[in-house]
Amino acid sequence: MENFTAYNPTKLHFGKNIIEKLGETTLEFGKRVLLIYGKGSVQKNGIYDKVMNQLKSVNAEVVEYSGIKSNPLVEDVSEAAQIGKLNNIDLIVAVGGGSVIDSAKIVALSIANNTDPWAIMKYKSKPETTIPLIAVLTLAATGTEMNGAAVLQNPETKEKIGYVSPLNYPKHSFLDPEFTYSVPKNYTAYGVTDLIAHALEAYFGEGEASLSDRFVEVIIKEAMEYGPLVLKDPENYEYRANIMWAATTALNGLTSYGRKNGDWGVHDIGHNISYLYDTAHGATLSIAYPAWLKLHKNRIPKKITKLGNQLFGTNSADETIKGLESFFKSIYCPIKLSDIGIEENKKQEIVNQMLKNKINGMAHEFSDDDRRKIVDLMM
Ligand code: NZQ
Ligand code: ZN
Repeated sequence: MENFTAYNPTKLHFGKNIIEKLGETTLEFGKRVLLIYGKGSVQKNGIYDKVMNQLKSVNAEVVEYSGIKSNPLVEDVSEAAQIGKLNNIDLIVAVGGGSVIDSAKIVALSIANNTDPWAIMKYKSKPETTIPLIAVLTLAATGTEMNGAAVLQNPETKEKIGYVSPLNYPKHSFLDPEFTYSVPKNYTAYGVTDLIAHALEAYFGEGEASLSDRFVEVIIKEAMEYGPLVLKDPENYEYRANIMWAATTALNGLTSYGRKNGDWGVHDIGHNISYLYDTAHGATLSIAYPAWLKLHKNRIPKKITKLGNQLFGTNSADETIKGLESFFKSIYCPIKLSDIGIEENKKQEIVNQMLKNKINGMAHEFSDDDRRKIVDLMM
C-alpha cells in the first residue's frame, strides 16, 4: 500500500426533502447568491422553485446565470464569473449535474482570484482561495458533488480537460434521490457507466491497495444490480438512492486511498471524443473502456481477470471484457463508435485529435501506436 492522506471536506446531505436545509445553510456564507444552472430541466421538474423558496426564506439576494451546456464551455464560466464579480457575491449555489457543478467550481475560483478561467484549467495561474460553493445535485454520475475535480472544454484550443484542486470541493452538497426521477433513460444509463468507469480508473491505477480494490468491486456490483432496475422503474426511491450514493463513493477518494494514482487514460480518450462530437460523457466511456481493456489484456492480464472473477465469476481477461460489454449493452449504452453514428470516415480525425492532445493514462502510458490502435478498437 502507498502512503496517503485521506481528505474530504464536503458536508454531504443525503435524502428525501433534504433541500429544506438549504436556506439556513447558505447563511453560513452570506446573503448574496449567484445561482447557476443548466438549460432548463430544473424549471420543468420543479427543483428550481424548491431552491428559490429556500433562498427566499432567508431573504437571500439572488442573481442567476443559466444555460450551462452539457460538456460545459469555458466561455459560459467567464460570463458567469463577470456577473458574480459585478454583484459582489458571497457564495454560489449550483443546481444541476456535473456540467453545472464543474462550471460553478471554476466560476468560484475565477472570481476569488480575479483570474481567467482557462489559465486556471491549464494550471497557469495558481488560485489561493475560492468563493464558497453549495451544490444541489440533480444527476447521479460524476461524483463532482464530493470531489475536487472540474472538467471544461474550450473550442479555441480544441480541448476538453480536467482541473483538480483541494479548493474545488463544495462546502455542502445536497442529494435528494427524488431530484433524479426526471433524468431521462439515456442519461441515467450514462451515469451508471460513468460511475463504473470512475471505479475502474482507480482499479487500474498505480499501486496495490487491497481494500480499495474491494471497494471498487462492490461499487461496480451495486451499479450492475441497481442500474438495470432503475431504468425499468425510474421513480423507485431505493433504486435511485442506491445509484446516487454509489456514484458519489466511486469518485470521492474512497477507491483511491493506498494507491499512487488512478489511471484516467480512458477518461482522456472519452473527453477527446466528447470534444469532437459533443457526445455525452458516459457514452464515450462505454465505448472507450472495452477498447482500453482489449489494448491491455496481454499487458495486465491478471488484474483484468481478477476484475471479471469478482464481477462475473469468470476466469480470463477476454471474459471480463465480454462481461462488461454485455452489461453496457444491456443498459443501452454504446460500445462502438458506430453505435453512435461515427463511422470509418471519421477515423483519421479522431486519430489526429488523440495524437495532437497526446492522450495518456497515468499508470499505463500510451505510445503513438497505442493511440492509433485504441481508435481502431473503438470503431
Ligand atoms: O442542462 P439541463 O437542462 O440541466 O439538462 C441536463 C443535461 O441535458 C440533464 N439533467 C440533469 N439533471 C436532470 C436532467 N434532466 C432531467 N432531470 C434532471 N434531474 O441531463 C443532461 C446532462 O447533464 P450533465 O450535467 O452534462 O451530466 P453529468 O452529470 O453526467 O455531467 C457530465 C460532465 O461532467 C464531467 C464530464 O466530463 C461532463 O462534462 N465530469 C466531471 C467529473 C468531476 N467533476 O469529477 C468527473 C467525470 O469523469 C466527468 O469527466
Ligand atoms: Zn467520468
